[in-house]
Order: sequence, then structure tokens, then C-alpha cells
Amino acid sequence: MRRIISSLMQPAATMGMLLLNAGWLAHISPDAGTTPLTGDAMGDRDSLLHEPGYGLLIEDTLIQSVAPSEELMDEHAPSAKLSGGTSPTSLGQHSGHDVFDLAGRAVVPGLVDAHTHLLWAGDRSHEASLRRQGYSYHQIAEMGGGIAFTVRCTRDATQDELVSEGEHRLRLAMDHGTTFIEAKSGYGLDTKSELALLEAADTLAKSTASPPMRHTWLGAHATPPSEEGDGRTEESRRAAYVDEMLAEQLPAVLDQGIADSVDVFCEPGWFTVEETEEICRAGADGGLQVRLHVDEFEEGGGAALAAELRARTADHAAWSDSEGRASCARVGTLQGFLPGTPHVLGSDHWPPIRECLDNRWPWTLASDFNPNCDSLSLPFSAHLAVTHCGVDSLEALVACTRNAASGMDHPRGLQTGTLRSAAAASLNILPGDQVDGWIQDSGESPFIATLVEGRWHRSL
Ligand code: NIG
Ligand code: FE
Repeated sequence: MRRIISSLMQPAATMGMLLLNAGWLAHISPDAGTTPLTGDAMGDRDSLLHEPGYGLLIEDTLIQSVAPSEELMDEHAPSAKLSGGTSPTSLGQHSGHDVFDLAGRAVVPGLVDAHTHLLWAGDRSHEASLRRQGYSYHQIAEMGGGIAFTVRCTRDATQDELVSEGEHRLRLAMDHGTTFIEAKSGYGLDTKSELALLEAADTLAKSTASPPMRHTWLGAHATPPSEEGDGRTEESRRAAYVDEMLAEQLPAVLDQGIADSVDVFCEPGWFTVEETEEICRAGADGGLQVRLHVDEFEEGGGAALAAELRARTADHAAWSDSEGRASCARVGTLQGFLPGTPHVLGSDHWPPIRECLDNRWPWTLASDFNPNCDSLSLPFSAHLAVTHCGVDSLEALVACTRNAASGMDHPRGLQTGTLRSAAAASLNILPGDQVDGWIQDSGESPFIATLVEGRWHRSL
């Protein structure tokens, strides 16, 4: 069984930390930093970046100050001297602080992945060749593949196996700069198995080796797989499952008290707008926030419903009409784009991100990690957005940090997604002096070091 061996397991630094002599530093916070940025403000380098030479003072889990390095040294480590070298290096301890010279390396906030299907078992890689033979996502699902296939494998997995695989995946996510992550259930599709997935996520969240997590109940991911020849139509099986979710599964999930949000795959062929509304309203009555999968393969009124329900996010939104998108923007529902999904499905229908930028509608990027889209790398998602959607690397960074954070409350109320005083001390360090390097994707992480709430996941 794989286990995380991570520096996060060390206790948080009792001393402060000083990171000095950064290259370009993306603070992304010309203001209070809690609302999403839109339009031109997402790419405004003058207001979102500090020029080279800044540093950060960190105490415990929080950033205390972001300021020119000389100021920080004078005040907090007068005996320290920059190395003058070209490689990042530890300068040792000075006045109770661990001091590092970043030697001009760029710094960006920790990334926020607000849409993952973190926990599942099994292998769906055979679907790639089915797609090459011309079968669509819908057809593969009708053949018993897709979500139903993963549900069977996940129900067969033990809790230990799910948790162990989850540990490995969380480490991969942090390796790629993610410091705050959402995890959905949705591959159990009966009360016992959905509770088990949420329980496994909770076990992970309680580990000191994990980044902060949020949990979403996605019982309405698909109709559960049926026994051969049970004689019922797809509609009647789905209606019975919706009844079961409302009468039994949701009350049990609320009782369990782990889930923060409810999500539904609102899509023609999966759950209708009416079913989605009923499930979400019941979840919201029980205190859950709403996050939705909408209009992934066709316009089905999902974005308009997300706005009506005041959902935190309307994700995929790949085919949502402009009216639905505009209503999301009016009520503050974020459009969460997931370019990894069209990429793996071989689609050339890329998320309509330019429309959001041109209309100043708030949007985010996430990985959509799932058995089909097997990547927990937000730099990779952003790379796709930059290469296919006409997005600048800084706009993509804002989408994956401050904007994503604005749609997901931190479990302990910390501010995330920006580098400013009193925000969580979560950040990534790049090998060069430019922040744009964060979307360079060579198949490896673009980061040389990652700090998660004051503790190194990967140290300099
Ligand atoms: O967001 N579309 C719904 N859910 C996932 C895919 C699930 C699967 O194919 O296993 C998504 O892409
Ligand atoms: Fe998804």
C-alpha cells in the first residue's frame, strides 16, 4: 500500500520564514482579493505582479507581509545577507526566521482545484481505443462503460484501497502546485457506497499530509448500473433513483455531515433540469452549497438553472448559451471550464473562455480529474486553455487561484489564491524569473518548490 512520505508531515514551522529576492511575484491582489477578477483585470500585469526583488514573511500558516526584500531583511533578519549566487539557497536562521534567497525565481500563489473526481477505482483506458473506433461518450455509456464501469470497480474497492490511492493522487496534485482541492463522490451511486466515498475523502482531509479539502456529494452522477433484463426503461430507473436519493441517500449524507456541497450531472441523457433542481433544492435546504456539471455535450438549460439556484459554479458550461452564461454572471455563479475533458475526448469544441473575458463574466479553470481525464495538473489544464482558447497565461493563473478560491470556502476560513498579508502561506516557486513559466508543460511539474500553508510539500 502506497503511503505519503511528505514534508507536510513535519509540524508547521514554529519559527517564521523569510523568502527573499524573488523574481516576478504574482500577488494577484491589488484589492482585498476575495472576489473573482474579470475581463482585462485578469491580465493586468501592472496591478497583479510585483517586480523582481520582493520577498515574503511567513508566520505559521499565514503570510504576514509581502514587501521589498531589503525592508523585510532590515526589519526581521538584519544579520542575513543575500548570497549573490544564481541558485536558490537557504541562508540559515536569522532572528528566529528560516531565511531563503530565491535568487530571482518567480513566485505564484498555490493553485486551487475546485473540480475533481478524486476517488474511484478501476481502469478505463480501453475507452480511448473505443473513441478512436468512433464511439461517443454517450455510446460508451450505453454500452455499460463510462461512469457505470467505474462504479462497479469502485464498489469492489476496500476503504483502505480508496484512501491509499487518494493519498497518492493528493501528492500528485501538490507536486503540480495544487494547495487546496475539491473532491466529489459520484462513483458509488447507492447510499452505502456514496457514504463510503465521502468517508474516504474525510479520512484524507484529516491527514496532516493532505492539502485543505472540500467535499461534494455527487450521488446524481448517473443512474446506477442495472442488472441485465430488469425490464425497466432508463427513464423509470432514473426516476426511481431520484426518489431514492431524496428519501434515503441525501438524508444519510446530511446525517454523516462530511459533504459541503451538492453536485448533479445536469445534461440531456443524464439528469434533467427538473430533476437537478429538485435534488439541489433539497441539498440546499440541508445546508449544502450547489456546484453543477452543466451543458458538457449540448445546451440543455443547465447554466440558466445554475444561476437560478445561485450555484457557486456552473462547470463544463461548454455548450451553454450566452443567455444562460450572462445570468450566471449576474448572480455571481462562476463558469468553471475544464479543458482537460475535451482534450481527452478528442473534441475540438474548446471552452468558450474568450466570451467570458470579452463580457467580463467571472470564470475559473479546474482539472476535472476523473477516470477519463486522468490528470491532476492544473498547469496542464491552463496550458490547454492558453494554446486552444485564446487565454493569456496570467489570465489562466488568476482563474486557477483567486477566482477558483472565490467559489470555494476554505475549511478553516483562510483566504487562499492570493499572495497578500493575512492570506494562507501557500505558494509555488518557478525555475525561472517569469511567472508565465507556470503553464509550460513538458509532462513534468513546472514548479521547483511548493509551500502548503506554511509547510514545504517540496522544499527548495
Ligand atoms: O465531469 N461528466 C460527468 N462527470 C465527469 C466524467 C465522469 C466519467 O466519465 O467518469 C466529468 O467529465
Ligand atoms: Fe466533472
